[in-house]
Amino acid sequence: MTALAIIGGTGLTQLDMLAISNREIVHTPYGEPSGPLTHGILNGRKIMFLPRHGYGHTIPPHKVNYRANMWALKEAGAVCIFAVAAVGGIREDMDAGRIVVPDQIIDYTWSRVNTYFEEGLQQVTHVDFTYPYSKTLRETLIKAAYAAKVNIVDGGTYGATQGPRLETAAEIDRLERDGCDIVGMTGMPEAALARELQLNYATCAVVANRAAGRGEGEITMKDIEVQLGEGMSKVAAVLEQLVKLI
Ligand code: HPA
Repeated sequence: MTALAIIGGTGLTQLDMLAISNREIVHTPYGEPSGPLTHGILNGRKIMFLPRHGYGHTIPPHKVNYRANMWALKEAGAVCIFAVAAVGGIREDMDAGRIVVPDQIIDYTWSRVNTYFEEGLQQVTHVDFTYPYSKTLRETLIKAAYAAKVNIVDGGTYGATQGPRLETAAEIDRLERDGCDIVGMTGMPEAALARELQLNYATCAVVANRAAGRGEGEITMKDIEVQLGEGMSKVAAVLEQLVKLI
């Protein structure tokens, strides 16, 4: 059976509908993951869950040990990884509450450890990353959304920024000129590390706010939290269908 893992983002530090069987502490050669892995049953299917920012939501995007997280999931037997992520909406129709399954990424992060291929190499390694997300997993997510009667945007370019501050309006203008539709702080190096470990990986992004300069007034954490609360209940419905389709 395909081992399925869900990575929760901001707004999803626990899966309420998961019947938890046990927690597993995994140590990795790259340090500690964001927390123990939670194993359990979701809609009749065994899955594991890891909240990217820790169970108490205390690890900011630039401090997440992405290498340890992905390594721990692989070590525990994960083959398919669904990452949930909160994002800002850049494109006009990317308004708060929308769910997007991106198909491309542009990486604007810096100084994050972003590869497993850097020490003790027998030879220099470059992985193909033309299509950063798994086609099959993206299609499954879209089918699951259809089954859950949740509107979803199929495709879009995710601009990964460094954070933890939000962007300036000019930075968002630049991202838009580059072709980004949504902006978030955790998409990279997570997706690239998944590819290096040959894990199938797709993202379900929830628009929490209009990106800087695209909405009215200041972007507040409170507004983000309110929007995410609604968005995450849609994601939960999608995940419940998803586990049946894998
Ligand atoms: N920018 C970057 N990351 C985000 C945003 C944003 O506007 N909203 C939620 N995560």
